[in-house]
Amino acid sequence: MPIDLIIHSANQLLTLAGDAPKRGATQGELSIIRDGALAISGEKIVAVGDTLDILSLADSHTRKINARGKIVLPGFVDAHTHVVFAGDRANEFDMRLQGATYLDIQQAGGGIMSTVRATRAASVEELVAQSRTRLDTMLAHGTTTTEVKTGYGLDTANELKMLDAIARLDTDHAIDLIPTFLGAHVVPAEFKGREDEYVELVVTEMLPIIDRRRKTQDGLSRSSVLCPPSLFCDVFCDEGAFTLEQTRRILTRAKELGFSLRVHADEFANLGAATLAAELGAASADHLMVTRREEMRAMAKSNVVAVLLPGTTFGLGKTNFADGRAFVEENVPVALGSDFNPGTCWCESMPFIIALACRYEKLTPAEALVAVTINAAYSLGIAEQVGSLTPGKLADVLIADVPDYRHLAYRFGANPIEMVIKRGRLVQSFDSALVT
Ligand code: NIG
Ligand code: FE
Repeated sequence: MPIDLIIHSANQLLTLAGDAPKRGATQGELSIIRDGALAISGEKIVAVGDTLDILSLADSHTRKINARGKIVLPGFVDAHTHVVFAGDRANEFDMRLQGATYLDIQQAGGGIMSTVRATRAASVEELVAQSRTRLDTMLAHGTTTTEVKTGYGLDTANELKMLDAIARLDTDHAIDLIPTFLGAHVVPAEFKGREDEYVELVVTEMLPIIDRRRKTQDGLSRSSVLCPPSLFCDVFCDEGAFTLEQTRRILTRAKELGFSLRVHADEFANLGAATLAAELGAASADHLMVTRREEMRAMAKSNVVAVLLPGTTFGLGKTNFADGRAFVEENVPVALGSDFNPGTCWCESMPFIIALACRYEKLTPAEALVAVTINAAYSLGIAEQVGSLTPGKLADVLIADVPDYRHLAYRFGANPIEMVIKRGRLVQSFDSALVT
């Protein structure tokens, strides 16, 4: 087998090998090789080990990258984003600084509905163009796979338009995109006072149409190596969004149709969504800023991944961060996401999310790194393909210009990622002199 690329002499090669998901005592298991190296053939990793052993696999056409003094790790998997949308909401940020709350703004017709109006007005080409530059910045900060939700269309045609934009970006952009249908993000303005009718529209029209398109692979995914077994369905269960009963109705139907489930739970108010996620066997429950211990225990029992989003708490200027430590103590696998969205968290940087999670959610740097790689991949059903540096997986690899992995949490505000290799291809390099 021809070896196309070898990355060698890493101070620390974080393999993240071992069983997934990692939880409790293994949440911080990085499986580090010192003076480590890996060999890539085509899109895949073919060998991982000591520098001397791996270099002996080189042939005359093998390119080499010397990572001396640096660390090598898997590309980041962002488990929760709303990166496809039109416009921005900088005006609302200003209003919040002057005392308005997220809910005040939403109830006055702004918030998510303001992005819905902009997204409905945009063509699919405009959506793709605006989202592409955000993905470029994410890639530069080390994200090689990201989940992306719909939820700014909120009618059948515009939800399908968003899925179309996600599929096009997945094809065109180096980052692999995993779509989630979030038709139940909020009740759109035209259904005010008729909330349950909107829930019925989601259940009887949107879910079946999207399910049919998924089954024919028509524009929903490029059916590539990186394709989770099923499409995800998410609901924003919170004050000002959907009640627990409405959430149950939508997720139960989605599950019957074969969707995997994610839930926006306990971001502002605790309506019981984390327990519902456990009951329905959801892949993830996300946000979890006000979740109780007994709910964490229910999540642990049914293997729901806790996707924590500290960028949102920070973005809202709040201080009630999710209790990451408690989730680890209760044996719930923890993943992290950026929650990139125009309302509460315009943040493309997973290194910044790691920095926040360690300070305010009390994860250790090692636990946070597991959360942004293998556990995030597991929550998306793609842990067989990405999330660790293991032979057979996609060669999604980062070189960070830091001497020790703790620096990825210790430093913040600048970009520590020097090189990004996606499916074996060098897609981002701030120092091409390293390649020989
Ligand atoms: O995760 N919580 C719901 N959705 C987003 C906010 C989306 C928006 O404000 O546009 C979130 O915080
Ligand atoms: Fe979200």
